[in-house]
Amino acid sequence: MRRYQAVLLAVTALVVASIAAYLLYGTGGRQGGQGTALVGGPFTLVDQDGKPRTEKDFRGQFMLIYFGYTYCPDVCPTSLQTMTQAMDRLDSALQAKITPVFVTIDPARDTAPQLKAYVENFHPRMIALTGSEKQIADAARVYRIYYAKAEGNDTTTDYLMDHSSIVFLMGPDGGYVTHFTHTTPPDKMAETLQRIVGGG
Ligand code: NI
Repeated sequence: MRRYQAVLLAVTALVVASIAAYLLYGTGGRQGGQGTALVGGPFTLVDQDGKPRTEKDFRGQFMLIYFGYTYCPDVCPTSLQTMTQAMDRLDSALQAKITPVFVTIDPARDTAPQLKAYVENFHPRMIALTGSEKQIADAARVYRIYYAKAEGNDTTTDYLMDHSSIVFLMGPDGGYVTHFTHTTPPDKMAETLQRIVGGG
């Protein structure tokens, strides 16, 4: 239970930090002028088929992006399920404008084949990304994602990761649009996607 409480605390801290950032930067901070994006930026990773991917591959598309790991017992599957269910509530034309993306923060275990098997449980258009420890660290940094091996792990292959749990919606220009948490209901996420991506 301590671990779960730690995750809850981390999420609460993130929400508080997000609100603080929102109050500091305001809505004008998300794009344009000197208001550079709060989150998002360049990354160089590899997808579940072993194909190199950068942020440029997603330009022109909305991107629903989440950082986690396949061995996560609860929060990650919940978030990816929510993303999948929200996408499924949209019509196919709208779905085609959004790419759901899962980036691992556990590249040691989440190889491309591991990710490929895992994301088959979720939306058919979901892209999963991995990379070297440094590539993952760089990608997590531009998205302001915290992650670390949880304390009290017994072995080098059986361990939990602590990590931020935020689903970001990035715009066709690569800039931050809005974000959700793993507690956002699929209906609410779908409604927001419909409004922003569908324009009404
Ligand atoms: Ni997780």
